[in-house]
Amino acid sequence: MVSTLLTGIGELTTHDPAHGGVVHDAALVVEAGRVAWTGPSTDAPDADTAIDLGGRAVIPGFVDSHAHLVFGGDRAQEFAARMTGQRYEAGGIRTTVAATRAASDEQLAANLARLVSEMHRQGTTTIEVKSGYGLTVHDEARSLAVARQVTEETTFLGAHVVPEGTTPEEYVDLVTGPMLQACAPHAKWIDVFCETGAFAADQARTILGAGAAVGLRGRVHANQLGPGPGLRLACELGLTAVDHCTYLDREDVDALRDTGTVATLLPGVEFSTRSPYPDARGLLDAGVRVAIASDCNPGSSYTSSMPFCVALAVREMGMSPAEAVRAATLGGAEALGRDDVGHLTPGASADLTVLEAPSAIHLAYRPGVPLVRETWRRGRPLHSG
Ligand code: NIG
Ligand code: FE
Repeated sequence: MVSTLLTGIGELTTHDPAHGGVVHDAALVVEAGRVAWTGPSTDAPDADTAIDLGGRAVIPGFVDSHAHLVFGGDRAQEFAARMTGQRYEAGGIRTTVAATRAASDEQLAANLARLVSEMHRQGTTTIEVKSGYGLTVHDEARSLAVARQVTEETTFLGAHVVPEGTTPEEYVDLVTGPMLQACAPHAKWIDVFCETGAFAADQARTILGAGAAVGLRGRVHANQLGPGPGLRLACELGLTAVDHCTYLDREDVDALRDTGTVATLLPGVEFSTRSPYPDARGLLDAGVRVAIASDCNPGSSYTSSMPFCVALAVREMGMSPAEAVRAATLGGAEALGRDDVGHLTPGASADLTVLEAPSAIHLAYRPGVPLVRETWRRGRPLHSG
């Protein structure tokens, strides 16, 4: 079996509790697509080939646990209007629904491939992809079939908004009936946008229950635009993660802490909708598990960049650089219930990002600078240069 030694690593973030999570002047051995060894360069074992990284930092590949990458068109004009004072509203989703229905499978796949490539170039190695811009049985199913080509972490989000021409009751019946049947074979997760203007808590409960009955694991878009019941529902149902978490009260925070449900924060949304950021500091201090994801979508957050989200989390949400990197890697893995990615402990998938920088702090310290030199997944370069 061929082994590769990466040596000369100035700072290696592993999240391995065995050595405090970070090793300086480090090395890492990859074998059969997995991490075989990490430690100080001076103790490194022999390997078939060696690559000297010249003092650069290495971190686990980013785990982007929340993205909407199957869609047609864009909403640049809506963004421009927001920047001159217009409010973000959930109903904007319907603009993208029309463009998505009008797009061919090939167009959807090409747009998805473009965004996935952007993500790889910015150090992301695991990507969750949602449907949610089709909102018919046919368009949701084909969205998920396209998504399945690029990731196993696919999420059925038929319950994004109620489309025009149908009542909420009819639509919930469709989502929990024929649409779920058509989509479940292509999906691992089911998600609901539980918010004023989208779905109420009782509807979300019905939809998540129907998904669970066919083996889909639940997630919720909750407490994004205002306080609401979505977060508490996710905690009550013992879901792995609940996403957005912008408007929380004390009981919401207690529920997250008590259940261990991961709070996935999406700072690209607050940036792009000019809204107050979630209180990451308060969540961390309360002992809540926190993830950061891009929420890449054409409406509320058209960034594919996890480094940008890390910089926002540090500058705007009170996280330290180390906490933000952890939330964007191990936190994302926790939000997807994955233990094979998001860390570089022996046995983990060799998914890693080589930075053109001596430490991971530079991700926040040098915002907007293309610091990802190489991205490796399962021990092979996905992107380099
Ligand atoms: O995560 N909140 C709901 N869905 C997306 C926004 C979708 C859109 O505006 O197109 C989100 O922010
Ligand atoms: Fe989202």
